[in-house]
Amino acid sequence: MNRDQLLKEMGLGPVWKLRRPPQATPAEVAPAPKDAREMVAPAPAVVLPPPTDARGAAIAAMGWDELRQAVAACTACELCRARKQAVLGVGDIEADWLFVGEGPGAEEDERGEPFVGQAGKLLDAMLDAIDLRRGENVYIANAVKCRPPNNRTPEPEETAACWPFLARQIELLRPRLIVALGKPAAQTLLRQEVKVGAARGRLHDFNGLPLIVTYHPAYLLRNLTDKARAWEDLCFMRETMRDLR
Ligand code: URA
Repeated sequence: MNRDQLLKEMGLGPVWKLRRPPQATPAEVAPAPKDAREMVAPAPAVVLPPPTDARGAAIAAMGWDELRQAVAACTACELCRARKQAVLGVGDIEADWLFVGEGPGAEEDERGEPFVGQAGKLLDAMLDAIDLRRGENVYIANAVKCRPPNNRTPEPEETAACWPFLARQIELLRPRLIVALGKPAAQTLLRQEVKVGAARGRLHDFNGLPLIVTYHPAYLLRNLTDKARAWEDLCFMRETMRDLR
């Protein structure tokens, strides 16, 4: 997808303007060789602070299968009551890229996969704009694995209860770059109050891994002006990944 197509997909039309000197759009840049991951040193192991309780310690020792089962059976917070199913995540478990959203919505709860509704379509278009595809060198997860009722923002105790699962996903994945989609994901990962508008456009650190904050696709569907900034963030992500390689 080229920039014009992305603009159309994002509902921006001709109002889109890049605030930087003209340069090749991500789609115009030659894609990295398919076997680029074999040509670089493996991503460093992620060292997270040790869990402080028995549940956290048990989750911190799990492999993917156990993690999937534990998430499916989890009753650690109120969100388990109304869910149809918990949604662990989707994608390539050796991915360089990890995108973290907020929590499943109605369609995700139904289908068991993150970002499959309207916001997910936009996320797919955004990935496409930087030559990425769901499942190919990309893993997508959420801060909470169960749908918050009426799609409300997860409460801090809910993200805290779910944190050991996301932490373990990150340890197992060892991504090169983490992208936090929206405020709840950014706050969960950075463990501090975050304003997306202020946090975007620079590299953050997640226990030694680079982390970029950008707008949540659902927010972008409602806020035309920030879509232009999201495009800048996509360019920044792409450049950052290139530098990391
Ligand atoms: N919004 C999210 O944050 N995650 C999803 O999986 C779907 C919508």
